[in-house]
Amino acid sequence: MKTLDELAVTGRRVLVRADLNVPIEDGRITDDGRIRATLPTLTALMDRGAEVVVCAHLGRPGGKPDLRYSLAPVAARLAALLGHEVDFPGEVVGPAAHAAVAALRPGGLVMLENLRFHDAETSTADLYRGFFADRLAAMVDAYVADGFGAMHRKHASVYDVPLRLPSAAGYLVQAEVAALRQLTGNVRRPYVVVLGGAKVTDKFSAIGSLIAQADQILVGGAMAFPFLAAQGHKTGTSLLDPVQTEQAIGYLYQAARAGTEIVLPADLVVAADRTAGRPHQVVAADSVPPELMGLDIGPKTAASFADRILGAGTVFWNGPMGVFESPAYAAGTRTVAQALTDSRAFSVAGGGDTGAAIRALGFPESAFGYVSTGGGASLEFIQGKTLPGLAALDEP
Ligand code: 3PG
Ligand code: MG
Repeated sequence: MKTLDELAVTGRRVLVRADLNVPIEDGRITDDGRIRATLPTLTALMDRGAEVVVCAHLGRPGGKPDLRYSLAPVAARLAALLGHEVDFPGEVVGPAAHAAVAALRPGGLVMLENLRFHDAETSTADLYRGFFADRLAAMVDAYVADGFGAMHRKHASVYDVPLRLPSAAGYLVQAEVAALRQLTGNVRRPYVVVLGGAKVTDKFSAIGSLIAQADQILVGGAMAFPFLAAQGHKTGTSLLDPVQTEQAIGYLYQAARAGTEIVLPADLVVAADRTAGRPHQVVAADSVPPELMGLDIGPKTAASFADRILGAGTVFWNGPMGVFESPAYAAGTRTVAQALTDSRAFSVAGGGDTGAAIRALGFPESAFGYVSTGGGASLEFIQGKTLPGLAALDEP
């Protein structure tokens, strides 16, 4: 993998693909960890006299412009963190974007609008995606991959652009790969994987290969409901997909054969919906009332997860245990984070939401072995899958 230090950038226009997919509520960024994580790469490029063009996505706007998903607030935060002007033309490949890039001087920085305002960015049609990649590549001389959290996506800016330009891995991607590699070989056992979060569809299929690697898989968050349903429990109005329930049955058999323990919640915090301030209660995981939904793991579950984490040699944690943004549903995530910081295990916590939860609950990142900016990406990496964004950097 060619690295940033080996790439000629002085006086050249360099496109940096970053993952700036940060949580935003009412136009306000609630966690800027992913923006901070890319600062070393951006400042190095500026110091070396590159003309820097930053591109990124925000949310899933569905392939058309939608100002609710504008990167404008991110550009403003980036400017504040850099202490340097960030020109934001409000376009990706249109005339205003070209004009902003043409006006760049060495050491200057432009941020393009949300790449996903163009449906070609995420298209599965290679030619269509490639045509969009041509337009992006035409604006610059070189490419730096720094958006680790999106590198598992075969998208134009992640995969096709680096095939068209001299390319290198930025400092964040180098650090991520170095940390996560430690989980792909022989790990100190017991190896405990903690899974949670809301993007169940994306992450569920990872469980198959994690069963073969880990000794224990602790399941919380929305990930737990297909498993509880697979055991015949009623899950009330909790997030649940019947196809995943079928898959969960298969995983339970597979785990039993492999001697891997899948540990499910014994109790849950439930409420009518996730609105903050609603009355909530703790119930046994096999007796969720029909009109209520699970929003956090319960205290018994959290204590048993913590015990297992304290006894682990290696821990990989992906996804919060509940809706941690509301204090009423943050206890499970806090207990897991506390156990990771107390444990002597080598620990990696990964994901946009997981990192945000760690910071929001006041845990220092230094208390973990590594905090990855990638959720789905780190999960695919530790399974040994080839990430399209990394594969593209290996091409000559
Ligand atoms: C993330 O937040 O996980 C990354 O930015 C990727 O976003 P995506 O799941 O919408 O592709
Ligand atoms: Mg995410």
